[in-house]
Amino acid sequence: MNTGAGETWPRLRLGVNIDHVATIRNARGGRHPDPLRAARIAAQAGADGITAHLREDRRHISDEDILALCSEIELPLNLEMAATDEMLSIALRHQPHAACIVPEKRRELTTEGGLDVCAGHNRLARYVEELCGAGIRVSLFIDPDPRQIEAAAVLGAPVVELHVGAYCDTEGAARARELDRIKAGALRAAEAGLECHAGHGLSFETVGDIAAIAHVEELNIGHFLIGEAIFSGLDSAIKRMRAAMDKARAEASGQMSA
Ligand code: PXP
Repeated sequence: MNTGAGETWPRLRLGVNIDHVATIRNARGGRHPDPLRAARIAAQAGADGITAHLREDRRHISDEDILALCSEIELPLNLEMAATDEMLSIALRHQPHAACIVPEKRRELTTEGGLDVCAGHNRLARYVEELCGAGIRVSLFIDPDPRQIEAAAVLGAPVVELHVGAYCDTEGAARARELDRIKAGALRAAEAGLECHAGHGLSFETVGDIAAIAHVEELNIGHFLIGEAIFSGLDSAIKRMRAAMDKARAEASGQMSA
């Protein structure tokens, strides 16, 4: 991959996570707002993929949503899933384009940290193997920790998604340190032959620094976009995010300095 200034960087893809459209729907039951409609708007607004997390407790996305997303949406679906037999059989049945294995705790508000691939190697191996064997592009959601990145490579997953929540949640020197960890992690992933994605907590304010990392090829963004959609509409929120990503990427790669 070329990463120097003025050279061609891989295009940065945007996966729009629509979980929280389902969160709002489920607050009242019924069918409104419809995650499928959100996915269609995302496609029109320039998203490259749709991401949805089918949690074990089904607190937002439902089995029916996954079925509808697979059968009615043309954009590739990235299914976020815990490493459980139930989720594995759902993924194998629906054959999404990609599956991102995430840690899941029942009581957490959101995915609070990355997978411990080092400790969970033996348990995770079967999931990676079966999903890859079915032609599903597997990613592992991990902290930008070199040990975890190396363990992911050993496991044979083609993709890692770096958890950037600590970067988004801090400020000042702590944020700068987190950014350095993410940059080093993305480079390490690329050197290990892994495709590198990033996500969690990204907003208009934080997306630029992450989009400017050459080895990051995909961002998955949900909560901020759905929240912003309340004020400006989903189409506008996604277009502004896309523009912020593209601007930061173009500046970092030198495409705007000529
Ligand atoms: N990537 C992964 C693996 C996630 O678990 C989540 C949260 O569901 C996201 C990206 C999106 O995070 P956020 O909703 O904070 O943008």
